[in-house]
Amino acid sequence: MTRDFEGQVAIVTGAGAGIGRATALLLAQRGATVVVADLHARTATEVVAEVTAGGGEAMAIVGDLSDQTVVDNLVSETIDTYGRIDVLINNAGIMDDMSAPHEVSDTVWERVLRVNLTAPFLLTRAVAPHMLRRAKGAIVNTTSEAGLRGSAAGTAYTVSKHGVIGLTRSAAVIYRDQGIRVNAVAPGGVATSLEVNVKDDAMGSAVIADYRSNVGRIARAEEVAAAVVFLASDAASNVSGAVLPVDNGWSAI
Ligand SMILES: NC(=O)c1ccc[n+]([C@@H]2O[C@H](COP(=O)([O-])OP(=O)(O)OC[C@H]3O[C@@H](n4cnc5c(N)ncnc54)[C@H](O)[C@@H]3O)[C@@H](O)[C@H]2O)c1
Repeated sequence: MTRDFEGQVAIVTGAGAGIGRATALLLAQRGATVVVADLHARTATEVVAEVTAGGGEAMAIVGDLSDQTVVDNLVSETIDTYGRIDVLINNAGIMDDMSAPHEVSDTVWERVLRVNLTAPFLLTRAVAPHMLRRAKGAIVNTTSEAGLRGSAAGTAYTVSKHGVIGLTRSAAVIYRDQGIRVNAVAPGGVATSLEVNVKDDAMGSAVIADYRSNVGRIARAEEVAAAVVFLASDAASNVSGAVLPVDNGWSAI
């Protein structure tokens, strides 16, 4: 495997499981030092152990990334320990309960928007100055099929993932002459531990079920990680502001 990330430091959020874990492991195999950021200490430290067992370098930072103090700690610990941040993978996310607009509770709306959209913004805001200083950096955000269309999830998740595309495009344009590339992947169905706690009788769920039959083959997390790492790599040196579907053609329908 090519070690094209040798010498680079990558923060991967939600790296304790699923797509984030697969991305952290692949970046480490390609030579990156990886900061494994996750809500859960056990899974984060397990991924760090997997990286180090493979001869790589990693550390875990545990906390809720929708909290500004956790984000500040993540960035300052990374800079204090490794001195630089080359790559930010904004991957951590949660599902909603498939509610229609008139069914969404304040709690679900605020939590889903906070974790899926505000946290990537907080992380981008905190990391960008370090990339600007070196005029180099790559940010990859995880949106979803639900960021591309209205028929893949409930209202809160759909809005949050559309917002991630706005954050991606805005940052890509604003930083285009500063050496920072910003892209997104839009996975379709992926076999992970992402939980969907469908609210009983949610209208959104019943309606959306008709369209979700288009999902096609369910991907392995590693298949999404490969696309994330491509966008973070120098192989994508002229790619910025792109939203890459990784969805077995779902978005082509
Ligand atoms: N699985 C799918 O079908 C699918 C499809 C499209 C998009 N996505 C997106 O992919 C991303 C990764 O999801 P996954 O499928 O790997 O799910 P997952 O649940 O397997 O992994 C998500 C990880 O993020 C962590 N996390 C969640 N909230 C956090 C927070 N507030 N702070 C820190 N860490 C937090 C979790 O602890 C977990 O380790 C998410 O943004 C999700 O919306 C997933």
